[in-house]
Amino acid sequence: MTTPSRPLVYSPYAYEIHEDPYPIYARMRSEAPVYRNDELDFWALSRHEDVLAAFRNLDGFSNAYGVSLEPSAFGPDAHKFMSFLALDPPRHTRMRSLVGKGFTPSKVAELEDRIRAITLEHLEPALERGSFDFIADFAGKLPMDVISEMIGVPQVDRAEIRRLADLVVHREDGLFDVPPAGMEAAVTLVGYYQEMIDERRRSPKDDLASALLVAEIEGDRLSDEEIIAFLFLMVVAGNETTTKLLGNAWYWGWRNPSERAKPFDDHGRVVDWVEETLRYDTSSQMVLRVTRAPMELHGTEIPEGSRVLLLIGSANRDESVFPDPTAYDLDRDTGRLVSFGSGRHFCMGAPMARLEARVGLTELVDRVATYDVDPDGIERVHSINVRGLASLPTTVTLH
Ligand code: HEM
Repeated sequence: MTTPSRPLVYSPYAYEIHEDPYPIYARMRSEAPVYRNDELDFWALSRHEDVLAAFRNLDGFSNAYGVSLEPSAFGPDAHKFMSFLALDPPRHTRMRSLVGKGFTPSKVAELEDRIRAITLEHLEPALERGSFDFIADFAGKLPMDVISEMIGVPQVDRAEIRRLADLVVHREDGLFDVPPAGMEAAVTLVGYYQEMIDERRRSPKDDLASALLVAEIEGDRLSDEEIIAFLFLMVVAGNETTTKLLGNAWYWGWRNPSERAKPFDDHGRVVDWVEETLRYDTSSQMVLRVTRAPMELHGTEIPEGSRVLLLIGSANRDESVFPDPTAYDLDRDTGRLVSFGSGRHFCMGAPMARLEARVGLTELVDRVATYDVDPDGIERVHSINVRGLASLPTTVTLH
């Protein structure tokens, strides 16, 4: 006699999923590759080949309603805060090419020295104390300061901008939408960026805000609203995700001492540490699409206008692409990870996130001989698509 298996229920709001979504993802890949949740009104694709194909299926799927299930982020106005991430061509193409010039790998490489300086500014006092919170004292500060540096936010304003950005992305336990404090912070941040743009219009500087004001393609320029929406997108898309990447690397390194030893023994292997963390436990677990036409997949009909989640975190654990996917293994081939998406909306900040992670973790392995984490102090964020830690108390022994 076989024991009936538990019904397959997947909700990105469930705390059980935040703790560990991977067993459910594995069941979805095998039992329900086109999963349907009637209550929350979404479909979900979990296999690597289906997620990748959906990212590249420009005619089948639209970004025009945003990329999140969250009620305040979903709808035709999503682009007002999410800029071209929530646009389809031709508006997506136009905006992305206007701002993309600031994000080429060579442009981003120019930031390396500044990223190192910002890293050390936060890391040195923490390491001197010997015990610190990896997230609050370091990983939570670096990405936003790098974005501010790039945009041109003066140093004196950065702590306040970081505080506002934290409020915008923070989600209260049990409440799965932007809380009122986050809404207020968003309005303040928009006001700040508007003043900054006005100021740059009067006296331009060598920063992204000034460059966006004069960016031009065939006589076409960005409006103030479009520039602000883009600056806002950087905060939402580039801030928390990179914080969580750093924290996840530190956490999984701690949980896997033999893998951690590799970058600690050979600093050149920090890159493998970053890539395997991106595959194994990526901070951006899913994105949403809306179908433009009815489609059939694995014998299931998905109607036009349906909300479809592309489960990035599951695709990265697909056994048909990554053998022994539940092993955290710095020697594996991570070339086919989909953590930054694929195709038209491929993450514009990928070179920057990778550079920040490489520089941040390299400065750590340079100074730290061993580290330990207090398991009782670890806290996980409860978000429907961002996966990572809110608190990671760490003790280090220096060289
Ligand atoms: C580990 C860190 C990061 C992860 C995991 C990540 C993940 C992603 C993913 C999956 C997408 C595709 C969304 C879609 O197809 O709907 C995306 C898009 C995007 N990301 Fe990232 N991201 C990271 C860091 C950054 C950073 C540092 C920035 C910039 C400061 C950034 C800016 C963007 C932008 C502008 C887009 C929109 C691209 C478009 O729609 O054409 N991201 N990101």
